[in-house]
Amino acid sequence: MASALVDAATLLVLLLLLNRAAIKACGKVALGSSLSAIDDSSKSSWSSPSGEFKFGFRRLDKTDLFLLSIWFDKIPDKTMAWYANGNNPAPRGSTVQLTSDGGLELNDPQGQEIWKSEPIGGAVAYGEMLDTGNFVLVATANKSNNIWESFKHPSDTLLPTQVLEVDGVVSSRLTKTNYSTGRFQLRHKDGNLVLNTVGIPATFAYDTYYESGNSVNANDNDSLSQTIFTETGFIYILIRNGSRVGLNTQDFFPRKDHYYRATLDFDGVFAQYIHPKNSSGNQAWSMVWHIPDDICMASKATLGSGTCGFNSICNLTADKRPTCYCPPKYSMEDPNNMFSSCVPDHTQVCNREEPGSSKDVYGFEVLLNTDWPFSDYEQFYPFTEDQCRNACLRDCQCAVAVIRDQNCWKKRLPLSNGKVNSQVNINGKTFMKVRVDSRPTEKERHEKVLIVIVSLLLGSSVFVNLLLLGGIFLYIYIACRNKLKKAEEVKLKSERSVVGGRLCSFTYRDLEEATNEFKEELGRGAFAVVYKGVLELGGKKLVAVKKLDRVVQEREKEFKTELGVIGQTHHKNLVQLLGFCDEGQHRLLVYEFMSNGTLANFLFEAPTRPAWNQRTQIAFGIARGLLYLHEECSTHIIHCDVKPQNILLDDCFTAKISDFGLAKLLMTDQSRTHTVIRGTKGYVAPEWFRTAPVTSKVDVYSFGVVLLEIICCRKNIPVGINESNGGEILTDLAYDCFCQGRLDDLLENDIEAMNDMSTLDRFLRVAIWCIQEEPSLRPTMRKVTQMLEGVTEVPVPPSPSPFGSVLRS
Ligand SMILES: *[C@@H]1O[C@H](CO)[C@@H](O)[C@H](O)[C@H]1NC(C)=O
Ligand SMILES: *[C@@H]1O[C@H](CO)[C@@H](O)[C@H](O)[C@H]1NC(C)=O
Ligand SMILES: *[C@@H]1O[C@H](CO)[C@@H](O)[C@H](O)[C@H]1NC(C)=O
Ligand SMILES: *[C@@H]1O[C@H](CO)[C@@H](O)[C@H](O)[C@H]1NC(C)=O
Ligand SMILES: *[C@@H]1O[C@H](CO)[C@@H](O)[C@H](O)[C@H]1NC(C)=O
Ligand SMILES: *[C@@H]1O[C@H](CO)[C@@H](O)[C@H](O)[C@H]1NC(C)=O
Repeated sequence: MASALVDAATLLVLLLLLNRAAIKACGKVALGSSLSAIDDSSKSSWSSPSGEFKFGFRRLDKTDLFLLSIWFDKIPDKTMAWYANGNNPAPRGSTVQLTSDGGLELNDPQGQEIWKSEPIGGAVAYGEMLDTGNFVLVATANKSNNIWESFKHPSDTLLPTQVLEVDGVVSSRLTKTNYSTGRFQLRHKDGNLVLNTVGIPATFAYDTYYESGNSVNANDNDSLSQTIFTETGFIYILIRNGSRVGLNTQDFFPRKDHYYRATLDFDGVFAQYIHPKNSSGNQAWSMVWHIPDDICMASKATLGSGTCGFNSICNLTADKRPTCYCPPKYSMEDPNNMFSSCVPDHTQVCNREEPGSSKDVYGFEVLLNTDWPFSDYEQFYPFTEDQCRNACLRDCQCAVAVIRDQNCWKKRLPLSNGKVNSQVNINGKTFMKVRVDSRPTEKERHEKVLIVIVSLLLGSSVFVNLLLLGGIFLYIYIACRNKLKKAEEVKLKSERSVVGGRLCSFTYRDLEEATNEFKEELGRGAFAVVYKGVLELGGKKLVAVKKLDRVVQEREKEFKTELGVIGQTHHKNLVQLLGFCDEGQHRLLVYEFMSNGTLANFLFEAPTRPAWNQRTQIAFGIARGLLYLHEECSTHIIHCDVKPQNILLDDCFTAKISDFGLAKLLMTDQSRTHTVIRGTKGYVAPEWFRTAPVTSKVDVYSFGVVLLEIICCRKNIPVGINESNGGEILTDLAYDCFCQGRLDDLLENDIEAMNDMSTLDRFLRVAIWCIQEEPSLRPTMRKVTQMLEGVTEVPVPPSPSPFGSVLRS
C-alpha cells in the first residue's frame, strides 16, 4: 500500500516535470516562473525554441548590477537586443517573476519593484520567448492575442519582423557600457522617420539631424506610418495608403545564414548590422547600412549641444562614426564619456572688478576647418584678421573668433554643434581664445620654489601647528566625527567629493595612497612635513598634504573655535583647506596644491622681472582676500602675518592668501584686541611695539609693504642689511622717491610699469597711505581696493613717519 502511494507520488512528480520540460522546450514560460540575477546568465534564462535568443539577467561589466534583457545567445559576445531597466540596473539577487495580472515583475532582493511590464487587456496565460527575439505575454482570453511584447517597447535595437509604430521610440544608450537613456532618439514625425537629440534626463526632442524625407503632407492623418524591418533585412516606411518608402535600398544576405539587427548606437548613428551564424566564419557584427551619412555635418539643432557635448568638436572617422575631442586648453567633463561636454581649463573672468583681458593673460590657438555654427553673437564686416582677434581679446564674453572673407564672427560659450571637416570654414580661420601662461618654461622652477615656501610656512611658529591641531579637533567633534564613524568606504567616497562648503575627512590610508606613501616631499618644518599628493575629489586634484608629527596637547581648545571659522572661509583669494585626517596619533591637513609657488619667489627669485600686468592683478587679489577676511566673512579675521611668503599663486597666477597660523579672530562686534606680538620682521605694523590695541589696520600696514615689494620687485629689507645703513629700506626709499619724483630710482628700468604711469602712481600712493605709522591714517581694505581699482581718487599721502620715529621691526 505504502509503496503504491510512493509510486503514485513519483508519477505525479514525473508528470509535472515533463510538463515543465514541454513548456520550456517550445519557448513557453509558465505563470509563476522566475529568474534571479546571478553571474551565470545561461543558468538563469528562458530560451527561444532554437536557442538563438535568451531572456534573463546579464551582469554589467565591472559592476554588481544586472539588466533584464534579451540577447543573441549563439554568438560569442552575446549582444543584447533588448533591455528593460537600463536607467535602473538591478542589484545582485533581484528576481523577475511572471504573474497573471502584473505580467513580468522585476523586484530587488528586498522586494522593491524595479520594473514591470504592465500588459494591457486582461490576464496573462503564459509568456513565450520567440525565435524572432520577441518576448510575448499571451492573454488568457484569446491565445492568438499578445497583450505585451518586447517588440512594442524597443530599447536601442530593432530586429527583423519588428515594427516601429507611430508613437514608438528607439533611444540610444548613454555610453557603450552605460545603458541609461542617451541623447539620441529615433521616432516618427509627420510621416517621416527622424533622428533627433533630446535634452536628457527628460524627453524634450530637439531639432532633427536626419529625416527620411517622404513627400507627405504633415497634416494628413493618412500619412501616419509604421517603420517595418523585414525578415530579409529590408527597412521601409509603410504609409497608410499602402505605399512603401524604402530606407535601405536592398536586401542583404539570406536570413538563414545571418543575424540582423538595426541599432541606434550611443554615438547617434542608426546602423544596420549583420553577423554570420556559422561560428567558423567572421566573428563580428559588420555594418551594412547607416543613417545619417555624416552625423557631424548633419547636426544642426539650435538647442542642445549637437552630436558631441558642448564646446566639443565632432570629427567623422573613416568608418563614418563621430569622434569628439576638445579644443586646446579644454578638457572632457567626464573622461569616460567622449560625448560629454568640454570645459575650459581656466574660466575667463568677466566682471567689473577684472574688466577685459590683456594680452599677457589671453591668447589664441588657431584651428583650421573648424566651426561652431550656432554660437555667434556678433559679426563685423569688413575686418582684418588682426582687428578680429583684437575685438575678441578685448571682449570678456568672446570665446572664439572666426574670420573668413573679411567677415569676423564672435562666438560665446557654450559652443554647440562643433565640427571639423574640410568643407567647414574654407579659407577661414578659427581663433580659440585661451589663457596663456606668460612664462611657461619656468613652470618647473615654480614647483621647486614651492618647497621653499612650504618650509617657510611650516618653520614659522608653534602657533601654526597649535591652530591646525585645534582645527582638526573642532572638526572631529562638530562636523564629521559621527558621520565618519558610521560611514562605510562608499559613503566616505561620496562625501569626499564634496569640495567647497565643508571640510572632508580622510582616512590615514587614503592619504597614504594619495601621496604614494609620502614619497614626494614639498617641504619640512619644525612640526610637520608637507607632501605632494593626488586625491579623487570629483576629479583628480593635486593637493599638499601636511603631516603634523607631534601632537601638542596644550592650548588646543583655545584655538578650536578660531580654526573652525577659518576652515569655513571660502574666497577666491584664500588658499582652501580641503580636509583633514584624524586617526589615532595621525594628524594631517589637506590643502589645495599651488603650482606657481609663493609671491616671494615670483617677485624676488625670477630671472626676469614678472609682467607688470600680472603684478597688478596679484595686488588686486591680495587686497580682495584681505577685504574678505576683514569685513565680509561672518567672523572678522585679522591675518597678522601678511607677507609675500604667505601669498601663494595658483596655475593662473591668482594670488591666494595662506597660513592663518597667526590669525586673530574678532567677534563681530569687536574691532580691536590686545594680544601678544605676532608677525614677521619687515612687515609688522609699529603699533605692535606700543601699547596701542591691535586692529585690522596691522594687515593694512603689511599689505602696504607687500604692495611696495610688488611694485618694485625687491624686498623691503634687503638680505644682509644692518641697522646702520637703513637707507636701503624700501618703505623709506619709496616715500623719498615719491616726494622727489625719482621714480626711476625706485623702479630700475621697469619700462612696462613706467609706461603705465597712472596705475603706478596710484599704487604707490596707496602703498604709502597703507604704511602710515598712525593706524587711523591708514585706509581700510575696502578703501584700499577702491583706490587701487581707480574707483576713488587717491590723495597725496603724508610722510609715513611724521615724527621721525623710526621703529624698525
Ligand atoms: C483573438 O485575437 C485575434 C488577434 O487580435 C483576433 O483576430 C481574433 O478575432 C480574436 N478572437 C476572439 C475570439 O476574440
Ligand atoms: C550611467 O550614467 C548615469 C548618468 O551619468 C549614472 O547616473 C549611472 O550611475 C551610470 N550607470 C552605470 C551602471 O554606470
Ligand atoms: C500614398 O501617398 C503618397 C504621399 O502622400 C503618394 O506619393 C502615393 O502615391 C500614395 N500611394 C497610393 C497608392 O495612393
Ligand atoms: C488627425 O487626427 C486627429 C485625431 O486623431 C484630429 O484631431 C485631426 O483633426 C486630424 N487631422 C486631419 C488633417 O484630419
Ligand atoms: C561554416 O563555414 C565554413 C566555411 O566558411 C564551411 O566550411 C562550413 O561547412 C560551415 N559550417 C556550417 C555549419 O555551415
Ligand atoms: C579627423 O578624422 C580623420 C579620419 O577620418 C583624420 O584623418 C583627421 O586627422 C581627423 N582630424 C582631426 C582634426 O583630428
